[in-house]
Amino acid sequence: MDNILVTGTAGQIGSELVPALRDNYDGDTVIAGWNKTPLSEDILETGPNVVLDVTDFNALEKIVRDFKVGTIFHMSSILSATAETIRTIAHDVNINGTFNILECAYLNGLEKVILPSSIAAFGDKTPRTRTPNDTIQNPDTVYGISKVFGELMGNYYHSKLGLDVRGIRLPGIISWKTEPTAGTTDYAVAMFYEAIRKNSYECYLAPDTALPMMYMPDAINALIKLYQADSQVLIHHSDFNIHAMTFTPDDLAREIMKINPRFEISYKIDPVRQSMADSWPISLDDSKAREEWGWEPEYTIQDLAEDMYLNLTKKLS
Ligand code: SER
Repeated sequence: MDNILVTGTAGQIGSELVPALRDNYDGDTVIAGWNKTPLSEDILETGPNVVLDVTDFNALEKIVRDFKVGTIFHMSSILSATAETIRTIAHDVNINGTFNILECAYLNGLEKVILPSSIAAFGDKTPRTRTPNDTIQNPDTVYGISKVFGELMGNYYHSKLGLDVRGIRLPGIISWKTEPTAGTTDYAVAMFYEAIRKNSYECYLAPDTALPMMYMPDAINALIKLYQADSQVLIHHSDFNIHAMTFTPDDLAREIMKINPRFEISYKIDPVRQSMADSWPISLDDSKAREEWGWEPEYTIQDLAEDMYLNLTKKLS
């Protein structure tokens, strides 16, 4: 097996994906690619790392050749809320960067590219409940448009050029190791931080905003399981729905109150993030992922709340 390169290792998912891949495979074969944000000690000490700017094709190609890369997990991305404020950089990273990854993988004969998409790839004309896998996609955000680009180009490289590109549409991901702040669903992580630090949180989404969410171990499991799936059984490629749970800020606050009865929530709506959330699915039909590669989530909102609270309390103390 050739080596695995992960882009965006310092990010919320990359920082947990690299250790999981190193646990599953030989640590020396998993290269942690990072750009501006430094890596944590555990990642630096358990395998190789490289500074990688995905917008620079020549630098990317040199890394792919030097490290004998066979698979890329392309995790670097500018998330939804930030992408609205820095469109040029978001276009460069999310669209040009993704194109560079695919083109470089094709030209250098790589085995696979794992390209995560998002619930943001849908829009206000998409059915919002049990959103079908194959349906109308009309996102009106820079981030969502870039994710549709990745899905379509991933499928193009697969069908026209024979490159094995695979992707899942990730919901809001809840985790305690690396704090996410650039997305719309990140209120759910912030609520835990503030509940532990000050027993209160002011939420930027309305109390009844229902969105699909997932605990990090399920997201990591999904990425690795899709990577390992037999290519003969896949009908879809870069555009799998996966679903774990749906909750609102009010639902999550109630779960946190069960653990910390002093916790109080208040609301001050941010119209930009609220309108994004209102255009995204509430739940997804993930039967294609279940049928084609055996996707199955483990964590419920109760499991997630208890595990998050415990681990974050330890981390912050
Ligand atoms: N979590 C992402 C965001 O809020 C959606 O994929 O930007």
